[in-house]
Amino acid sequence: MKYYYILTYGCQMNVHESEKLAGILESQGYLCTENKEEADVVVFNTCAIRETAEQKIMGNIGEFKGLKKKKPNMIIAICGCMSQQKNYPEMLKAKFPFIDIIFGTHNISEFGSYLIKRLETGKKIIEISETENISNRDNMPKKRTSGINAWINIMYGCNNFCSYCIVPYVRGREVSRPKEEIICEIKKALSDGFKEITLLGQNVNSYGNDDREKFGTFAELLSDVDKIDGKFRIKFMTSHPKDLTDDVLDVIAKSNKIIHYLHLPIQSGSNNILKLMNRHYTKESYLNLIDRAKRIVPDAEFSSDIIVGFPGETEEDFSETLDVVKKVGYQQLFTYIYSKRKGTVAEKLENQVPIAIKKDRIKRLISLEQEMASKISDKYVGEIVEVLIEDVHPKKQGYVVGDTFFGKTVSIKGDASLVGSFKMVKITSSKLTTLSGEIVEEIC
Ligand code: 5AD
Ligand code: SF4
Repeated sequence: MKYYYILTYGCQMNVHESEKLAGILESQGYLCTENKEEADVVVFNTCAIRETAEQKIMGNIGEFKGLKKKKPNMIIAICGCMSQQKNYPEMLKAKFPFIDIIFGTHNISEFGSYLIKRLETGKKIIEISETENISNRDNMPKKRTSGINAWINIMYGCNNFCSYCIVPYVRGREVSRPKEEIICEIKKALSDGFKEITLLGQNVNSYGNDDREKFGTFAELLSDVDKIDGKFRIKFMTSHPKDLTDDVLDVIAKSNKIIHYLHLPIQSGSNNILKLMNRHYTKESYLNLIDRAKRIVPDAEFSSDIIVGFPGETEEDFSETLDVVKKVGYQQLFTYIYSKRKGTVAEKLENQVPIAIKKDRIKRLISLEQEMASKISDKYVGEIVEVLIEDVHPKKQGYVVGDTFFGKTVSIKGDASLVGSFKMVKITSSKLTTLSGEIVEEIC
């Protein structure tokens, strides 16, 4: 028996790419293990979005030095956004001489051949390409590991160059995937029993911008996915507020499959900061978009990403962010402390915000988020809502967790046999961001 162990860091794109790496490994006869000591192949699928992520990964790689000494035949591979950065492969090689294979974000489909080459020749491999043939990327075997959810890539890369963000440098320019292939993969996932489809892209609203005639628009794609027969849910991530058009909102409003939960990262509520971030919208136009979304999809809930402590952010700028949070009433926020990234435009900006101020601001933001999210949770108490049971409860025995059509997690009494089913659930209580409920009726 040969075993593999994958450590995945960062976003959903990486989670799905690890499913592709697992697919390649299983096609070569490797089995998954949860025990790193048992592994014959270890893969670090890395993230570079913030310095803290990188520090954690470096620490984790370092821990394998001893293991590799005890088991010299163990193959250690590093891939993902960290390895794609300029000068990083050389730095990683020097810092961790026990690494066998380093490859970039555009080389995932080649991983199987790197592994064979390494085993046959004993030579270390470093392969970092600037682009990748999209059909190679999508035709890899996949071992789906995200429960009842199937991730489906609809596009790769990002053209936006937000001034703080490393993604366009490590993931390249936007490339859309043909609609027929996407639909085909979704139908296969549904026939395999998956109940939730998440369309993945760095900025899904730009789908088709690279060739409108060939690909059509995101709204058209979404509408065609919605028309696929069967009882299942549709999600998508991530959206850029500057690109979310009303035709997308219209498709969502009419659908009983696309969840009424919109993730619209604002990043900052201050127009000065938004300009420095290169976001191409203002606080006012963002709030206007939220108003339109609330009008077209009246029961929609919202979430957002916010960065605090971007260079030059004053207390006044930060209070504009708090103001947006109060006005929108987000169900959930993903909050981040600004992290300087090498090679980005913001790296050169002066007026870095001291860490103590950044920490104070994120604390205040989270406390406002919790206050707002609690109010939203409370409003569902007493209601009967449809829940898709996602998994057994991670902590509470005899309970399962599911999602409402509005992206809220509900904890319900039940066992693993319920996973993947839709139930009508009465919400009995709420605590911060999670709801508790009991099944009142079976749907299917
Ligand atoms: N520092 C902090 N947060 C960042 N993000 C992206 N780049 C940085 C950075 N340099 C956040 C943004 C993005 C989310 C995925 O990560 O909020 O939407
Ligand atoms: Fe980064 Fe902006 Fe692209 Fe999102 S849209 S991946 S934040 S550059």
